[in-house]
Amino acid sequence: MENEGSAAAGKWRFAGNERLTLAGAVTVRGVLDTIKGNLNGNDARPVIPLGHGDPSDFPSFRTSSFAEDAVRAAVSSAKFNGYSSTIGIPAARSAVAEHLSKDLPYKLSPDDVFLTIGCTQALEAIVTVLARPGANLLLPSPGFPYYEARAGFSGLEVRHFDLIPEQDWEVDLASVEALADENTVAMVIINPGNPCGNVFKYEHLKKVVETARKLGILVISDEVYDHLTFGSNPFVPMGIFASITPIITVGSISKRWIVPGWRLGWIVTNDPDGILTKQGIVDSIKGFLNISSDPATFMQSNSDGSFSQVYERDAELEFPKESEQDEIEGAVPQILENTPPDFFQKIVSTLKETADICYERSKEIPCITCPSKPEGSMFVMMKLNLSLLEGINDDLDFCCKLAKEESVIVLPGFAVGRRNWLRVTFAIEPSSLDDGFLRIKAFCQRHAKKP
Ligand SMILES: Cc1ncc(COP(=O)(O)O)c(C=O)c1O
Repeated sequence: MENEGSAAAGKWRFAGNERLTLAGAVTVRGVLDTIKGNLNGNDARPVIPLGHGDPSDFPSFRTSSFAEDAVRAAVSSAKFNGYSSTIGIPAARSAVAEHLSKDLPYKLSPDDVFLTIGCTQALEAIVTVLARPGANLLLPSPGFPYYEARAGFSGLEVRHFDLIPEQDWEVDLASVEALADENTVAMVIINPGNPCGNVFKYEHLKKVVETARKLGILVISDEVYDHLTFGSNPFVPMGIFASITPIITVGSISKRWIVPGWRLGWIVTNDPDGILTKQGIVDSIKGFLNISSDPATFMQSNSDGSFSQVYERDAELEFPKESEQDEIEGAVPQILENTPPDFFQKIVSTLKETADICYERSKEIPCITCPSKPEGSMFVMMKLNLSLLEGINDDLDFCCKLAKEESVIVLPGFAVGRRNWLRVTFAIEPSSLDDGFLRIKAFCQRHAKKP
């Protein structure tokens, strides 16, 4: 070996960052890769993916042709090949503000909006902003493990409050109060819920913000599945309660438009009293975005070619001047404002159909119970009764063997904070979902404990 004889051999001064290796260990995608590793290549049947929340490959979930055209036109115009500003192109921020204001009793300003690379970067930003020595963050259990991973990496302590399955996964507010102390900085709410498929009622959300106010903490509302609801509870944006306590909303076009690969998201400050600015949160968000990459410029632009200027990221990382902002036209408005409503109706009605299939089919499988019918998002939590099964040790073992024997991929609950539960996505073709449940039923029958 070339380096063998060098002085450095065997004592290299560089090494991987163990904190990163640890932080990345339990992610949804990582666990799904492990499960997929068990697939039997000799099974001629198609693999049924009930593990992840990306239905973009399925014909029933293809995005709107309107959105595709808007992006295609933006790319072809060659006007959007430059850098964006770090916090997002003003016209695009304005479009997001307009879009979200439709559901609020007040109007958001473009200054309240910061564009990010999907909702993932939005939550990454806010978790990093809040991380200071000794601070802790309250997260729902079960929840979305990216929060834990990000907080762990940033040195922000995480404490879990329970969502109660028997109460449609409402927040156990007593556990929130019991967990919080003078170092608690914020709590996260995911609505509509991943992984539970619940949609919080107005009254319950109000109690959540009242609790946050009492504790003096920020509410981070993850609304990446906003408007993907099909039960009795409508989607209520947390920003409605911003006069009670400051709210930071994170979201993206990934789920509602079924384009998670387009990577356009946002952080929105709902803060009529300017508390987030006073507390330095807004400046920290800008600081984070100044040292990060930006969503693709063509995603932020509009399709009519009137966008006349893009920004150069200069050494000082200055924000654009007001006069420059005025020249920038359009942006995401094409997609946010003009996507035909029948696209959303179709997606929601397909999700309702598949959520029903999931719920009804689960009733035919004795070792699985679904405590609460999903009313939103793309997921449902199902409890495994291992005492009815033979030779299955836990949720991970169940999912590995299910992949091997039936070519069905399901996420074990431990990955979202509930051992011996399963998280099932119903955002797939209805016929495949049906087939998937028939295979799960056959698997459970084969492994049923003999009386
Ligand atoms: C609750 C939750 N928040 C955030 C994200 C990340 O969204 P995006 O794909 O826009 O980065 C996801 C993705 O699955 C999610 O489920």
